[in-house]
Amino acid sequence: MKPTLIFLALATLASLPALAATTEHRAAGIESKGYKWNKPSKELTKALKQKGDPEKGKIAYESCRGCHKADASGRPDAGYPQLAGQHVTVLIKQMIDVRTGHRDNPRMHPFIEADAIPIKDIPDVAAFLSSLPVPTTNHKGEGKDLEHGKQLYDKDCANCHGEAGEGNSKDFYPKVAAQHYPYLYRETMDIRDGIRRNANPKMVKLLKKYSDEDIAAVGDYMSRLAPVQN
Ligand code: HEC
Ligand code: HEC
Repeated sequence: MKPTLIFLALATLASLPALAATTEHRAAGIESKGYKWNKPSKELTKALKQKGDPEKGKIAYESCRGCHKADASGRPDAGYPQLAGQHVTVLIKQMIDVRTGHRDNPRMHPFIEADAIPIKDIPDVAAFLSSLPVPTTNHKGEGKDLEHGKQLYDKDCANCHGEAGEGNSKDFYPKVAAQHYPYLYRETMDIRDGIRRNANPKMVKLLKKYSDEDIAAVGDYMSRLAPVQN
């Protein structure tokens, strides 16, 4: 390679982290001292108070369809979760957490930041998504270790996520039944390892003792729970 080309290549590489740092703000999360899960922010409180309009939400959701698909069934191989039928509170919290830098999501951040979508559209989108039927064709795991998965789930997870994986809207606990297995697996690994920085500390503590195989088994079990419609 000619020296000028090498210089250009190095200059391009060197500028990449700087670009990433300026586009996404990173708020303090579970890695910081004094982390308080779900501390109400101004934006979250405001969004939760507003009654969402699913008709308006359908229009605002247009910019999201490329990744999450028109029926909000997601794209399992690309790691895009299914959003259809999720609880309104969960959808709002997760959108605001990505917007404010409490949950890292560099791919989605440009679509949910303040310049891209006004705050008043967020409850509308959540109302639209939660009104959609949960698809039944989600990706499941290998089905090898389901008994072990069920044991772990019933002991450690059902308290919050519900025996049938139905979640709990009042407490912001996500519905996990019939979610895509690759997404469930990656999220659970990220929660255990402190990478999903907005996670509930009680859940993180439970997951600390999980091996990768345990996480695969419990994820597979959750992906096979029957869809729970709202
Ligand atoms: C470029 C692709 C992309 C676009 C566009 C996108 N998202 Fe996402 N979204 C993702 C990915 C990837 C994740 C999972 C992130 C992770 O693994 O933590 C996600 C996660 C979410 C979640 C969290 C789901 C859960 O169960 O916790 C919500 C809610 C969401 N997106 C809503 C939206 C909305 C609303 C829009 C449009 C304003 C949107 N997304 C646009 C890629 C995208
Ligand atoms: C104390 C209540 C609690 C317990 C117990 C709990 N979770 Fe969670 N879980 C949550 C909350 C709250 C969230 C959403 C995190 C956040 O605030 O962003 C979540 C999110 C998740 C997600 C991501 C879902 C999504 O849509 O993105 C997965 C996967 C998950 N939990 C798996 C588990 C597993 C497996 C167990 C059992 C080992 C477990 N959880 C136990 C409260 C709990």
